[in-house]
Amino acid sequence: MRAADFHCERQFSWRRQLIQLIKWNFSMKKREPAFVANDILGTLLFLFILVMLNLGLAVFPGSFSIETLPTLASLCPDASNCIAMGYIQPNSSLPQAASQAILTELAQLIAESEPQFTATNALKAFPSEQAMTDYRNQNDKSLFVGLELQAVNVTNFDTVYYIWVLDSLFASSNYNAVGYTTAQAYLDRAIINAQRSLIGPPGTPKLKSPLTYTANNGVRFASINIKEISVGVQIVFYMILMFQTVTANATRALANDKAILRPGMVVMGLNETVYIFSVLVVQIISSLPVMIVVTIVLCTFGKVFIYASPVLIGVILVLYSMLCAAFGYFLSVIFPDPRQSTGMSFISLYLGLAMYAVGKLSLFDKSGVSTAIQTVWLLSPHACFGRILDLIFSQETILQSVNLTTLSNYPKIRTAVIMLAVDIPIWFILSWVLEKLYPGKDQKGLPITFLFDKKFWIPESVNEAVLGGDLDEIAPIHQEASDDIELVDFTAVGEKQKHSVRVANIVMKFPGSKKKHLGPIGLFHQWLSKKRGKDVDVNVNVGGDEKEVPKEVVALNNVSIDLHSGQTLALLGHNGSGKTTMLSILSGGLLPTAGKMVVKTKTNSPRGYSFLDTSKPMELNLIRRNLGVCPQFDVLFPSFTCKEHLILYAALKGIVVLPSSSPKKTQSELLNEYIDALLEDVDLALKTNVRTVSLSGGQKRKLSLAIALLGNPSLILLDEPTSGMDVGATEKVWKLIQEIKGNKTIIITTHSMEEADTLGDRIAILNKGEFQTIGTSLFLKGKFGVGFRMMVDVKEGGNFDQILDAVKQVFPAADLTASSSTTGSITLVKPEKITSLEYSELLSGLFTKLNALIDVGELKDVNAIGLGQTTLEQVFLSLNDKDDDQRQAS
Ligand SMILES: Nc1ncnc2c1ncn2[C@@H]1O[C@H](COP(=O)(O)OP(=O)(O)OP(=O)(O)O)[C@@H](O)[C@H]1O
Ligand SMILES: [Mg+2]
Repeated sequence: MRAADFHCERQFSWRRQLIQLIKWNFSMKKREPAFVANDILGTLLFLFILVMLNLGLAVFPGSFSIETLPTLASLCPDASNCIAMGYIQPNSSLPQAASQAILTELAQLIAESEPQFTATNALKAFPSEQAMTDYRNQNDKSLFVGLELQAVNVTNFDTVYYIWVLDSLFASSNYNAVGYTTAQAYLDRAIINAQRSLIGPPGTPKLKSPLTYTANNGVRFASINIKEISVGVQIVFYMILMFQTVTANATRALANDKAILRPGMVVMGLNETVYIFSVLVVQIISSLPVMIVVTIVLCTFGKVFIYASPVLIGVILVLYSMLCAAFGYFLSVIFPDPRQSTGMSFISLYLGLAMYAVGKLSLFDKSGVSTAIQTVWLLSPHACFGRILDLIFSQETILQSVNLTTLSNYPKIRTAVIMLAVDIPIWFILSWVLEKLYPGKDQKGLPITFLFDKKFWIPESVNEAVLGGDLDEIAPIHQEASDDIELVDFTAVGEKQKHSVRVANIVMKFPGSKKKHLGPIGLFHQWLSKKRGKDVDVNVNVGGDEKEVPKEVVALNNVSIDLHSGQTLALLGHNGSGKTTMLSILSGGLLPTAGKMVVKTKTNSPRGYSFLDTSKPMELNLIRRNLGVCPQFDVLFPSFTCKEHLILYAALKGIVVLPSSSPKKTQSELLNEYIDALLEDVDLALKTNVRTVSLSGGQKRKLSLAIALLGNPSLILLDEPTSGMDVGATEKVWKLIQEIKGNKTIIITTHSMEEADTLGDRIAILNKGEFQTIGTSLFLKGKFGVGFRMMVDVKEGGNFDQILDAVKQVFPAADLTASSSTTGSITLVKPEKITSLEYSELLSGLFTKLNALIDVGELKDVNAIGLGQTTLEQVFLSLNDKDDDQRQAS
């Protein structure tokens, strides 16, 4: 079966597009293995640095070290001049004997333990608290610990005491280092020893010095490590940097697609919302393995997170990587140039790090900062991620394990994680809306109200707005009649076929480039040149060679044409004459500067059709459902096979193949058969499962053509479809186009006269953005051709005079070009006064008369004569000559 025998319908399916786009996105990743490797290696590199840093610092929260008590002597720069401990004389209300016993035991313990101290300076008595304070203030390097007994009970030895330590030391050092613990250990032992000596059974052994470290005696302490907050900050920085390559690459790929691939795919029916969604899904799937590895390393041997649950960390990392993709999308919308947006992703990283730092230092957990500001701050992907890590980190330092189920116990972490998740749709939706409002150069954005417009969500509802408006009201053509344009007699054309496409006074101007801003070097150059007396243009290149500044280009200048279905229009013209521009406006890829292009489209309006405007995005959606485009430059994906391309585009167009009466088949079987038939039609059956990377140029064109024909669209735009094809293939394509033509409207651009002659029911010649002529092949040849030629064959030794004289009687301007002594051709230029019909009658009359004269031997030198017609090529050339003459004249 031929592809044309299948019946296709359009049914937009969200799911089908998504599945195909996910597949496509993965194949795009395959196309750029270096970037995928870069994504993975970039992440792993920073993971490595982070783990090395962390292990290098060797400070892990929760691990502890056993330390011994510092001696009091160690606090003292010169032990012989120091007092180990001072005490305030026990108050007279205290039991004196017991108090003295404690002090004696204490002095003994200190002297035993730290022989550096003499009996007098081991323990020094002060009459009052004031005296002790004064002494300490005057000799602040010689008294570290003071003691005051508050209550002593002889019977059960309940004791209350104060230990005085220097607050200046206490503030700057830790609890152990200021001698407090040592003093307390001495004192407690002294109290026990006093009790034993006073009321214990005789011979009760006394406790030894707390500094005597043996298995059975002495005081030790365990110091539990916490991470320094500065380590936490470093970890946060490295974790943010870890994902930078992901953001940069996502941004670059999105901007690349936006600039190169998406416009073509949108024309084919790509729904950009589904596209964005597919990017998100692919990001999750592709980042998952790396995230798992990162999480495992961070939570196990990397010891970056010891208490937090790996599941929580993994979830946060995946959310963050999705957020990076969303943010990359935002950047690609704001900065459509791929290089620019990649650069901006780095700048936004630095800004994000700065926002994290500012948030940490002066916003979060600070009183007086409103929740609104804190929430706004958390909209920054990096600041939000950093905040979460910070909070989890501070729980690590106090050995608290946070996990998904206990998240509600940590409201700050919970809020930040929720914000991280909420940020993803926020950035996606924001970018998506911005993209709809400002779709890019030469494209028309939607008005902000589009979100509430039913037409946007349900394209079919556009009919209600355009209920069969009259074409001449929607897009009137203002044009003076011209002899060079053959009018189509629409009376002979059925109502249904009429006006399938109208191009009404289209003007397309491309702005010239803006004047360059001169950098410092350029300004210097300008100044120098001025000094030398040379007047330089501000656009002079710094190197000194003048660059021509592109001026505004008028690609189409007030072109108008009406087409009806069943017609094929061949567009001819030199390079840059505006052919592609015209097709791009028609397919909605470009927004015209002025004028309208209207496509008659089947709708539910009472008439059954509406005239839809290609410059209105919502109407364009409907037009595109019945549009097939073969762009001048193939939009093909190297790692996709021919068949995969057609499956993808069939999904984008929502093509459903209707079952014929034959045995029931599934939709995918039918689609498969249809695609095979289509590939057979364009002669690519043998390449069905071959990746396009290994196709030849001509084969790629065939595939592009197949894509354009997919789903039997009623309007087909073919931009130089046969360029690069060999003669055989070209002829096959011509045959195919003629076969499928039916009631379709086809516009084909070409540089081949033969192609235009073969396929074009009408041929339009574009020259510098204007239609130089439009008409059937015959009209063009008749009007611009040099007319007919008479080929003459004379006898050896004879001459052409006889015959030339005879011809001149009818065509006075006739001219002879001899190609040899016996053959030549005489031009039979049509006199201006007569009509084409009179011209052809004149020709046939002349021909009959001359043949009769030859037969009777009147023209004895002439052997034979023949009639030759002008080719389209000659028309083209003569139009060029005319153009050159005009230019010279002006
Ligand atoms: N995006 C653009 N920005 C600026 N100028 C453009 C742009 N696209 C086309 N032009 C200019 O518009 C004019 C018409 O270009 P167009 O591509 O339509 O020509 P064409 O007839 O298709 O040529 P070819 O036969 O080489 O394909 C050219 O002068 C071209 O430089
Ligand atoms: Mg072109």
